[in-house]
Amino acid sequence: MLETKKVEVDLSSFHRLLHPKLVVLVTCINPLKDTTNIITLAWIMPISRHPPLLLLSMARKSYSHELIAGPKEFVVNIPTMDIVKETLFCGRRTGRIHDKFKETGLTPMPAKMIRPPIIEECVAHLECKLYQQILMGDHTVFVGEVLKAYVNEGFFPNSKFDLEKVKLIYHVGGDDFATLASKVVSLGLEKEEK
Ligand SMILES: Cc1cc2nc3c(=O)[nH]c(=O)nc-3n(C[C@H](O)[C@H](O)[C@H](O)COP(=O)(O)O)c2cc1C
Repeated sequence: MLETKKVEVDLSSFHRLLHPKLVVLVTCINPLKDTTNIITLAWIMPISRHPPLLLLSMARKSYSHELIAGPKEFVVNIPTMDIVKETLFCGRRTGRIHDKFKETGLTPMPAKMIRPPIIEECVAHLECKLYQQILMGDHTVFVGEVLKAYVNEGFFPNSKFDLEKVKLIYHVGGDDFATLASKVVSLGLEKEEK
């Protein structure tokens, strides 16, 4: 058998072994200044069905951290490769200095249940209110309760993204992004009672 040599990965890059990860754009507001912001995030995952909960891990130094810890509501918007440049911009510039809607040309539209806007150009949106927050090293884990979720008509048949139509963005690392091939394997194995 061929032996593979395992090489050590510097711990400053451990997380890259868990990438590529789906990229989202989170919108939040500053109610005092009546302004909005967008932050790009890859560290996000669903964590409960009942109630519907997701978590975001956000660096404490980011401006968006203040805008979620304060107003306690945010939208998770799902971008596609059509706006990958705008997505990188929102992940490389801070809303403390930049009006990211204005500078990217992305369009804010009213959400259904909360104050932060959705991003019109994104394919899907999850409106969340803050459920809990936990300090984790140099990040805060924000747990959001999903109040409303919606998607562009025709892009999510049978509650699954149509990967022919929806080119989701995955972050490989640094400036590198990937998307999924449209062919997915569909296997059959029934669920077990638990
Ligand atoms: C592809 C990509 C993924 C990112 N993922 C995260 C993340 O999961 N958590 C985080 O805190 N920052 C993440 N960032 C960095 C923030 O988006 C970046 O610091 C941003 O400029 C913060 O903006 P703000 O100061 O307006 O909040 C990511 C950046 C990129 C480009």
